[in-house]
Amino acid sequence: MREPAILSVLRTKGEAKRFYDKLSRFYDYPVGAFERKYAEMALERLAIKEGETVLEIGFGSGHCLRRIAEAIGETGKAYGVDISSGMLEVTSRKLKKASLMNRVELCCRDAADLPYDDSTFDAVFMSFTLELFDTPEIPKILEGVKRVLKPRGRLGIASMSREDGESILLRLYEWAHKKWPRYIDCRPIYVEESLRDAGYEIKSKEKVNMFGLPGEIVVAVNRKSQCN
Ligand SMILES: C[S@@+](CC[C@H](N)C(=O)[O-])C[C@H]1O[C@@H](n2cnc3c(N)ncnc32)[C@H](O)[C@@H]1O
Repeated sequence: MREPAILSVLRTKGEAKRFYDKLSRFYDYPVGAFERKYAEMALERLAIKEGETVLEIGFGSGHCLRRIAEAIGETGKAYGVDISSGMLEVTSRKLKKASLMNRVELCCRDAADLPYDDSTFDAVFMSFTLELFDTPEIPKILEGVKRVLKPRGRLGIASMSREDGESILLRLYEWAHKKWPRYIDCRPIYVEESLRDAGYEIKSKEKVNMFGLPGEIVVAVNRKSQCN
C-alpha cells in the first residue's frame, strides 16, 4: 500500500445523503465554485462527442451534467446518479430550464450499486466524488464503472490528490477532515494509482494546485475487450 496511507471516511452513507440534501440549495455558490474550474478541466480532457452515452457519478448541482448534455447533442444520452435527492431536484430544475431534460436521465442512489447494464457508456465522469468513498470501497466503485463502460470507454476523474502532498495546508486539511469528518468530507486519495490497480489504462494525467491543495485530473480507458 502506498505511503502515506489515505485517511478513512468516518461518515455513513445516510449522513452523506443528509449533508448533501442540506447543501443542495447553496451548492452552486460558493462551495461548488471552488472546485468548478478543475471539474471543467477534467470534462474537457474527457472530450465528449455528439451522439455518445455518458454517465456522471455524483453530479451535485448539475453544472457539469448540463455541459455533458450540451456536448452529446440531440442524438446522445446522458445519465446521472447521485445519493442526494436534494441535488437531484436542483439539477433537474437546471436541466429543465435549459431545455435539456429530454436527453438526461437522473437517478437518486448510492453509486456503489450502479443500476445500468454492462457496457452501456462511452464515457463516465466523476468530479470530487471518488474521494468520498471509503478506502476499501474505491476499487469496488472503479470495478463497477468498468462493468458499465463499453470496451475502450473513457473514465474522467477530478479529485483531491495525496500525491506529493506534504504541505502544511494539506496536513491542516487532513487534520480538519479527521476532526469534522461529517463536514470536511473529501479527503486526498491516489487517483492514478487506484485506476492502474483497477486495471485501467491511463490516457492522461495532470497535477493541479487547487488554492494550495493538490489535485489530480486523470482520464483512463477501460481495457476490457469485446469478448470479455
Ligand atoms: C463534493 S460533491 C461534487 C459534486 C459535483 N461533482 C461537483 O464537482 O461540483 C459530491 C457529490 O457526490 C454525491 N455523493 C456522495 N456520496 C455518494 C454516493 N455514495 N453515491 C452517489 N453519489 C454520492 C453527493 O450527493 C454530491 O452531490
